Order: sequence, then structure tokens, then C-alpha cells
Amino acid sequence: MTTTDTAELAGRLFVLPEEWADMDRWHAVIGEARRSTPIVSVSIDGFQPFWALTRYADVMAVSRDNDTWHNTTRSVLMANAEWDGMLGAGVPEPMSLVHLDGVEHRDDRQVTNDWFKPAAVRHRQERIDALTDMFMAKMRDLGGECDFARDIAQPFTLRVIMDIYGVPESDEPLMLELTQGLFGAADPEFIGEAATPAEVFVNAAFKFMSYFAAITEDRQKCPTGDLASVIANGQPGGCPMGDIQRLWYYIIVATAGHDTTSFALSGGVEAMLRDPSQLRAVRDDPSLAANAAEETIRWTSPVRHFMRYATRDTEIAGTAIPAGGAALLSYPSANRDETVFEDPDTFDVRRHNADRLAAFGGGAHFCLGSQFARREVRTFLGRMAQELADIEPAGPAEWSQSAFVSGVKHLPMRYSFY
Ligand code: HEM
Repeated sequence: MTTTDTAELAGRLFVLPEEWADMDRWHAVIGEARRSTPIVSVSIDGFQPFWALTRYADVMAVSRDNDTWHNTTRSVLMANAEWDGMLGAGVPEPMSLVHLDGVEHRDDRQVTNDWFKPAAVRHRQERIDALTDMFMAKMRDLGGECDFARDIAQPFTLRVIMDIYGVPESDEPLMLELTQGLFGAADPEFIGEAATPAEVFVNAAFKFMSYFAAITEDRQKCPTGDLASVIANGQPGGCPMGDIQRLWYYIIVATAGHDTTSFALSGGVEAMLRDPSQLRAVRDDPSLAANAAEETIRWTSPVRHFMRYATRDTEIAGTAIPAGGAALLSYPSANRDETVFEDPDTFDVRRHNADRLAAFGGGAHFCLGSQFARREVRTFLGRMAQELADIEPAGPAEWSQSAFVSGVKHLPMRYSFY
């Protein structure tokens, strides 16, 4: 393939949901692009044109320069028709943390910041341990075979975040439906009765609106000390939050908190099914669990991109970008950058610099929940390593189809306990 062919193919691989269902191919093509054309100019019908950044250094430099590069309301790639359809249907223009910039973003983030600081997250360890016990028991009950992604990773990570949120367990199926509607709308498995992914998205957004309006009313009358109460009564910059801003706050924390971590965990276990010596390494040296979590998140990189927009004429590694130009930050590609990670396409729980991962972004928008995600993955993998004697595939793994947040959605496996 010529360099031009590779760049053209790479462009489609960033944008089209179905291209995310085969990650070995994805990494092979994007790896080639990263080495030959690290800044890929992408023009695809129906989408705004953008430059895709594939190298670690470029992704991190843009992430950290929050003056030159803004997130804006279109910080997630969306077909123009879908965007117009969303606004036309009356869904308010997004204004969650990832869509805000400057002082507005700083003040908004301050509302929940304390909840996500390392010390606050450490206090949750006991609860994460208890939920890990519960899901290890579920693995026992399932009798040695399960779909690890659907039966364990997804409900475990959902329970952890809903637990801090203060959402009752009985509402979890609804929350799952809503997250899949917003993040995985293009996956045929989640489309259901809807005619288009845009319709799935709009339906999910409306359900969220009424669900969280009721929560706000409740927590404003009777704050309970949970995260939902903090958001319901939050005052960014000393002023009460507007209804739309509050709605998007709930949405970002509820959705960003579980599909991401769930795909990290299921993808890490998928890698261990390919190479069970990795799980044995954590069993033999339990202190490796923390590094195994870093490697798992590097390897899976479940957030596939965020967009940034140039606030002025600028350049990235010699490529001129005019004011208003869009850049796509490819975290999965940055995490396989061979100039940072030696032998990047090997999953290695002993990797010496796995904690340099790009998967949580950088700069002002650095993932608010990274400490939670790390703790959840570390705790669960650590326990699996101690309790499971053997693991093996019980069928092919399946990846979800989404260009925004995606990963292993089905992982049939067999296992035995000690
Ligand atoms: C493995 C799991 C996770 C991954 C890979 C991940 C990744 C990311 C990335 C790439 C960003 C954008 C960073 C940037 O623009 O520089 C982000 C932002 C964010 N994440 Fe996560 N995340 C994960 C888990 C979580 C969890 C568990 C929570 C909440 C409990 C969470 C909440 C957020 C929020 C609220 C933001 C927006 C921060 C802002 O814009 O200021 N994430 N995450």
C-alpha cells in the first residue's frame, strides 16, 4: 500500500463505527500511518474535515495546550446530519465538562473535584473490595463459564459508579440502556427498534433528561451526601448551575464512569486469555496488580478520541493548522507509539513505563475519574489472579462498534477456581 492509501484508509478507521470491531486490523493500519504519516488529514463525506494525531508527543502537546486548543460543544466526532438531527429534535447543545473551556470549565470541574481526589477515592477501597467479592461470587455461581464482558465487567463497573452516585441498583438497567444509547448508538446490537443511530441517541438523551430532573428535585429538597446531591446543589463560580449545565454534568459522570472502565477490564482479560502467563505473573507477584491495571488501560484505550479546535493559526510538528481547524486526538494510537512504549503491540503487565499511558488524556481535561478507574481495574484483576486457577476462551471475543468509546463487549470464557 502507498502512503496515500494508508492515510486514506486510516481516515475511515477513525470515523466509521464498524472499523472498531477488529482492533488487530485497526492497530496494524494505524501503526503504519503513525510511522509514515503521523498527522493524517481526513476528509470524509458528511463529517467535518480534521487532522488525526497519531503520535504520543502530538496528542499530549495538544491536550496540554488549553489556550491554543479548545474543546467546544463538538468535542466528540459526530456526522453532521446526526448533529443537526440532535439539535433539531430539541436535545440541548452539549455543555458537560468535556465541552467547556477556560474559566467556565475550571469552575464546573471544581464542583465535584474533591470527590475524585486520590484521598477521597482511597476511602472507597473497602466498598470496591466488597463489590469485587460480590462479582467473584457471581463468577463462582455461573459455574465455570461466562461472558466476562456482559456478566461481570459491565455490571461490576456500573455498580461502583452508581454506588457513589447514589442511584439505586434497581435503576441500573435503565442507566445501562442510556449509556449504550449515547456512547454505542451506532452498534447494531444497541439500535433496537430505532431507525438510525441518531434516533437512538436522541431517545437516550430525552430519557436522561427526565430521569435526572427527578433526581435534582429530590436531592435539592433532601441532600443525602452522595455525588448526585453535590451536582444537584453545585454552584460553579458561586452561581447556581443552569438546568442544561446540570443535566450534562449528570450525563458525563454517569456515562464516562462505567463503559470506559468496563471495556478496560474486559479488554485486559481478553489479552490475558491470549496469554495466560500474564495472569499467572500477577498471581506470583501480587504487587504487579497496579502495573497490570496501567498496562490494561494503555492496551485497551477505551476512549477512542476527543476533538480539539485551534483558537488561532498554529502548527503541530510542522503541519500548519488554521484558526478553527479540528484535531482528533487518537489515544489508542498514542498508546502504541513505539517511540514511547517498547514493543507496543505486546501486552506486558511488567512494562516499566505503562503508567505513561495516554488513555486518560492530559492538561485541564485530564480524566477526572482516573483514580477510580485504576482502582477498580487493579482490584478486580488482582483478585482474579489470586482466585482463578485457569482461564481459557470459550468462543470468539466481540468488540463494540463505536468511534467514541468502545471495546470488548462479549468475552466468552471458561475458568476454574482454586
Ligand atoms: C479506563 C477508564 C477511563 C478512561 C480510559 C477515561 C478516559 C478519559 C479521557 C481520555 C478523558 C478526556 C481527557 C482529555 O480531554 O484530556 C476523560 C475525561 C473525563 N472522565 Fe474519564 N476515563 C475513564 C474512567 C472514568 C471514570 C471512572 C470516571 C468517573 C467516575 C470518569 C470521568 C471523566 C470525566 C468527568 C471527564 C471530563 C473531565 C474534564 O473534561 O474536565 N472517567 N476520561
